[in-house]
Amino acid sequence: MKEVKIRDLTFEISISSDEISSRIGVLAAQIAEKYKDQCPIFIGILDGCFVFMSDFIRACAITCDVEFVKLKSYEGTKSSEIRELLSLTIDVTGRPVIILEDIIDTGKTIAYFKNYLSQLDPKSIEVVSLLFKPEALQNDEVPEFIGFSIPSDFVVGYGLDYDGQGRELSSIYKLKAKKGQ
Ligand code: IMP
Ligand code: MG
Repeated sequence: MKEVKIRDLTFEISISSDEISSRIGVLAAQIAEKYKDQCPIFIGILDGCFVFMSDFIRACAITCDVEFVKLKSYEGTKSSEIRELLSLTIDVTGRPVIILEDIIDTGKTIAYFKNYLSQLDPKSIEVVSLLFKPEALQNDEVPEFIGFSIPSDFVVGYGLDYDGQGRELSSIYKLKAKKGQ
C-alpha cells in the first residue's frame, strides 16, 4: 500500500516493512553482542512499542527479562504532564536495563522514565528507539540505539497510532502534505 487513510487524514509510505525488519536485525545483533552474558531487562513503553518489542526480542534472542510500563502524557494547561498507568513489577536493582521505545519526539517521556528508573538503582540504562525525530528533541535524550532518524512529520503504523488507529499497519506511513503546502 502506497497510501492509507486513517480517520480524516491521508498518510503515505515512509519506511517499508522489509526496511524495518532488516534494520531491526542489525540493531538486535549489536545489542545481543553487547549484552549476551548479562541477562538484561528489556522494558517497553506501551502502547506504541508492542510491535517493535515483539520483533526485536525474537531477533535479539538472548537470555533476558521482558517488562512493560504504560505512560501517558497529557497536553493540558500545564505544558505536558506524564502519568504512569501501568507500573514496573520487576526488581531492576543492579540489573542492566534496556528501554525500548517506538519513537522519541520531544524526549519528555523518555526523560521522565529514565529519571524514575535511575532512582531504583539499575546497573545501567540504555535506550533503543525505533524512530527518532532529532529536530523535535527538547532535551539531550539522544537514544544509544536508533532505528531510523526521521524529520518531524507525524507517522503511523508498526504500533504507532493516529488517534488510536493505524497500529496494525506493517509499514510506517507519514502524514501526506496537502496540495499547496
Ligand atoms: P515524546 O515524549 O514527545 O518524546 O513523545 C513520546 C510519545 O509520543 C511516543 O512514545 C508516541 O507515543 C507519541 N508520538 C510522538 N510522535 C509521534 C508520531 O509521529 N506518531 C505517533 N505517535 C507519536
Ligand atoms: Mg509511545
